[in-house]
Amino acid sequence: MPTLLLNKNTVKELLDMSEVIEAVEQAFRDWVEGRGRMPPKSYILLEKGDFRAMPAALPGAVGIKWVSVHPQNPSRGLPTVMATLVINDPDTGYPLAIMDGTDITAYRTGATAAVASRYLARKGSRSLGIIGAGRQAYTQIEAHVKLFDLREIRAFDLSKASVERLIKAFPGYPVEESSLEKAAGSDIVCTVTPARWPFVKREWIAPGVHINAIGADAPGKEELEPSVLNGAVVVVDDLEQSRTSGEINVPVSKGLFSMKEVYGTLGEIISGRKPGRRDDKAITVFDSTGVAIEDIAVAQVIYEKAKHRGGCPSMNLIE
Ligand SMILES: NC(=O)c1ccc[n+]([C@@H]2O[C@H](COP(=O)([O-])OP(=O)(O)OC[C@H]3O[C@@H](n4cnc5c(N)ncnc54)[C@H](O)[C@@H]3O)[C@@H](O)[C@H]2O)c1
Repeated sequence: MPTLLLNKNTVKELLDMSEVIEAVEQAFRDWVEGRGRMPPKSYILLEKGDFRAMPAALPGAVGIKWVSVHPQNPSRGLPTVMATLVINDPDTGYPLAIMDGTDITAYRTGATAAVASRYLARKGSRSLGIIGAGRQAYTQIEAHVKLFDLREIRAFDLSKASVERLIKAFPGYPVEESSLEKAAGSDIVCTVTPARWPFVKREWIAPGVHINAIGADAPGKEELEPSVLNGAVVVVDDLEQSRTSGEINVPVSKGLFSMKEVYGTLGEIISGRKPGRRDDKAITVFDSTGVAIEDIAVAQVIYEKAKHRGGCPSMNLIE
């Protein structure tokens, strides 16, 4: 049996945001209901960036993502985040496919945030604030426009050129350049920067706002002032990963936020074990560290589509 080799172009052609949203939502449900397995990701921290090994098993698929985060890469013409994925047959271990995981990472990150917004943001949310207009910003927008009728998308970045590129990529959508404060004042706010200091201020966040805190996904990273978390409904993707490497990792290590204050996990909310938003005035925060079940669920969708399409390059890894 051949092992499929799926390069960036093929994966990109096969990615469909609506399917990705459905796949990640189901993956969280499967996991919390005991049909998935996922050890916390392990990190190798280097001087210029870090690497993560992210294995997971879901019904019908098992695999691993090997992903790097190097924030200085854009100045070398390379993406900050790059990934490769391997998926195997759960019954035999046979390697089914090796595929580019960079776009899968961006799609599943946007999709997971939009799913969190679906359960945690106010129903009539009309404005989206994007803080950090790099690679992940594009899929935050693509996923949110699938689930919300957005009238305003306010983008802020330290780099004006990045905001201009983002606006150009969404002709026909209400994407506009914004101040940091105005973006943070949107109904739904997505923070997608590699920041290591809390620059989003509590005073800018109005009652009822939902924040997807995406950027902090390794020890020492944080984007929100810890006071944003105090009193907010804080939902995490994974308790252990969030404690050690999510938005809450620095406040927890400094004693400014306690794990007891975490309301629950996204899986608990999706599966109905805990209610999502109950109060229109509550500030809600989804602390996204990125979990391997998201990647494996999407890789499985891509593999099935590639298999049926045929004509993909392959190699015989096992004679
Ligand atoms: N939670 C997850 O699942 C997940 C997944 C992928 C990436 N990430 C994280 O998201 C972050 C962004 O990733 P990316 O691929 O978009 O990177 P990127 O380098 O493509 O974009 C980051 C953008 O943030 C901007 N920026 C930096 N500091 C800023 C600040 N203080 N205020 C406003 N803008 C600022 C940069 O100018 C750049 O345009 C990284 O930290 C990455 O590790 C998280």
